[in-house]
Amino acid sequence: MKITVIGAGNVGATCANVIAHKALANQIVLVDIKPGLAEGKALDMWQTASVNIFDTRIIGVTDDYSATEGSEIIVITSGIPRKPGMSRDDLIATNARIVKDVTEKAIRYSPDAIVVVVSNPLDVMTYAAYRAANKHHSKVFGMAGILDAARYKSFIAEKLNTSPRDVQALLLGGHGDTMVPLPRYTSVSGIPVSQLLDSDVVDSIVQKTRQGGGDLVKLIGTSAWYAPGAAAALMVEAIVHDQHRIFSVCAYVNGEYGIRDIYLGVPVKLGRAGVEEVIEIELDEYEKQLLNDSACSVRRLKKTLDDMKLF
Ligand code: NAI
Ligand code: 2OP
Repeated sequence: MKITVIGAGNVGATCANVIAHKALANQIVLVDIKPGLAEGKALDMWQTASVNIFDTRIIGVTDDYSATEGSEIIVITSGIPRKPGMSRDDLIATNARIVKDVTEKAIRYSPDAIVVVVSNPLDVMTYAAYRAANKHHSKVFGMAGILDAARYKSFIAEKLNTSPRDVQALLLGGHGDTMVPLPRYTSVSGIPVSQLLDSDVVDSIVQKTRQGGGDLVKLIGTSAWYAPGAAAALMVEAIVHDQHRIFSVCAYVNGEYGIRDIYLGVPVKLGRAGVEEVIEIELDEYEKQLLNDSACSVRRLKKTLDDMKLF
């Protein structure tokens, strides 16, 4: 198994590191446009192999896609991250060109690869990668729901003084302020969260989850990477091991939830074939409204991408 990670910055390097630690690939190729960055980080990671006990060969290259030839999975993290005061949407003009460019180059050498997009604004960048890759939408999808759900679970676990591992939760919608955490689909080892926490506490956790990425940008001065990198690697793991896991993934919807022709966070079954199925769960009127509002905001941003006339 050969996996390419494009963008050797904070998220890309973290993702590659987790993939190596989990022994998901024999070879990881890290690509960046900044000379020496991918080579240096790959070398540093490779030199941890005897310490952290893995065999995965990690190499880094500067904009040389021939080295990525025959990759089965391509993770795209290249692009600029948020700075304080910026929304994810402010990144579109720069990142759309980068995502299109790197996807086209990578797919030329690995036409059968599955593409996992991380660059922001996620839902629209995933759409851009889909157009650039010119593949079936089941093979091109994005990471956000696992990260957002992980933040949501961590806040619930903190409140209950329990392990985040025991919290099950689902989120829908775009990766932005309109994301839709679903308290009705949240439980702790099977116990509905409504039996454990008052509704106003759950509401405040939902709000904290929505602004979770922004709060980290304020603290660090750039966006987060440990949880995003690990979340992208978890998707890679589900694909490599054909686990048929059910996650919220930024997937193409074409009629599911009454929404068409955008990429949006929805529960899917994820395995070696990519998105095997979009799962439609039952939503009440309030949840439907929130999801539709989120879809509208993704659609508005997609119009900005369409107006750039890159495709
Ligand atoms: P970073 O700045 O640390 O790394 C980005 C890397 O991309 C840099 O090393 C840069 O040189 C490289 N790059 C830029 N143009 C390139 C090109 N044409 N070819 C190859 N490499 C290129 O940024 P970070 O923190 O790693 O974030 C990466 C992206 O992921 C950002 O857009 C960020 O907003 C997004 N993100 C998405 C999350 C999600 O949940 N989907 C979570 C966290 C970050
Ligand atoms: C995050 O949620 C900014 O999308 C990035 O951390």
